[in-house]
Amino acid sequence: MATAVAARTLARAVPRSTAAASAASSLRLAARSSRSNNSNSSNAARQFFQKSSRRHYSSSGPEPAKSSSGSGLIIGAVAAAALAGGFYVYNTQTGEFHLTKGSAGQSAGVFKPTTEDYQKVYNAVAKELWEKDEYDDGSYGPVLLRLAWHASGTYDAATGTGGSNGATMRFAPESDHGANAGLKNARDFLEPIKQQFPWISYSDLWTLAGVCAVQEMQGPIVPWRPGRQDRDVSFCTPDGRLPDASKDQNHVRAIFGRMGFNDQEMVALSGAHALGRCHTDRSGYDGPWTFAPTVLTNDYYRLLMEEKWGWRSWNGPKQYQDKTTHSLMMLPTDMALVQDKSFKKYVEKYAKDGQAFFDDFSNVVMKLFELGVPFESKPEDRIKFKPTIDDA
Ligand code: HEM
Repeated sequence: MATAVAARTLARAVPRSTAAASAASSLRLAARSSRSNNSNSSNAARQFFQKSSRRHYSSSGPEPAKSSSGSGLIIGAVAAAALAGGFYVYNTQTGEFHLTKGSAGQSAGVFKPTTEDYQKVYNAVAKELWEKDEYDDGSYGPVLLRLAWHASGTYDAATGTGGSNGATMRFAPESDHGANAGLKNARDFLEPIKQQFPWISYSDLWTLAGVCAVQEMQGPIVPWRPGRQDRDVSFCTPDGRLPDASKDQNHVRAIFGRMGFNDQEMVALSGAHALGRCHTDRSGYDGPWTFAPTVLTNDYYRLLMEEKWGWRSWNGPKQYQDKTTHSLMMLPTDMALVQDKSFKKYVEKYAKDGQAFFDDFSNVVMKLFELGVPFESKPEDRIKFKPTIDDA
């Protein structure tokens, strides 16, 4: 197991342009045959990641598809091919997809997606995640998770506004909010999947992709259910609902308290910062939190507890850097979790117990992605997607 994790992490850390790339791919494939429950990444992987230089990421992609207002019907041409002669036809009056068959386009009835249909969407996202490994540290996973979180984290429990229902980040002004800088990469990544499965709403797709990202990056299973409907620009939330990384624990409590989370949940959610990195041209901050930023582990907590941190001396916003390698970072809000007694006891717990982190992370991410959604389904109808790394 541990070898598999190491191999996969190595695969993620190897720059594609080097001769090691194909070897890394083989390692990655080998690693896919086993899914790890071990939440600690190996020293080998860390050292490798440290040595490997940072990848370049592409900052542009295809323009998102225009919204379909007023046209009445949208035909999913790609889906039609997959259906061997059938088409999905969308009725904007009822909000339903119909399946049509044959050249005369006879209606085969309202299309009601099943668990298997959603698993197909999951698999398509996972396939792209594995194939498009040129991006950033080798995976779109972190930025997909961030998209799902920023779509959901606008929720205000007092007014019931915001949340993952709506996918309003497709529109300005929300897409232009400073906190959402860089998330166009994730939205563009998902656009071909939306074309392939036109019956799924953007808001279901974004959260499903967040679940896929967590699971394919070897995190826990996160139960998910459909039911989000896309909304128009008038539902965009005001700027300032997402956290400001330069602030302290009072701010963290105020922002996540507004969404309805308690201290333990806030700390569990923050473990997502084991993944990905900060980009100077997005948030202004710079660098990854851990040595294996494409594998979900409890390393974020371990590093917060075990590493010594000091202010980085640089020409950028105030951030911490580790004293041992000077290659990792913490935001002021990350450090607030060990500066506040109540938060710190959960950091200690998750640093010691990777399984407890996985259990709590699964629950709290599920809760996050359901904020503000008027589900018709029941909690027991949630789907547990099968990770594709179990198949390979
Ligand atoms: C106090 C709370 C939080 C603050 C202040 C915060 C702030 C940030 C900042 C500044 C970045 C760097 C963005 C960039 O430059 O690309 C970032 C990245 C990220 N955040 Fe958070 N975040 C918070 C909570 C969360 C939560 C709750 C999650 C998910 C459950 C999350 C997931 C991520 C991920 C995965 C990335 C990496 C994105 C990438 O690599 O492109 N964050 N966050």
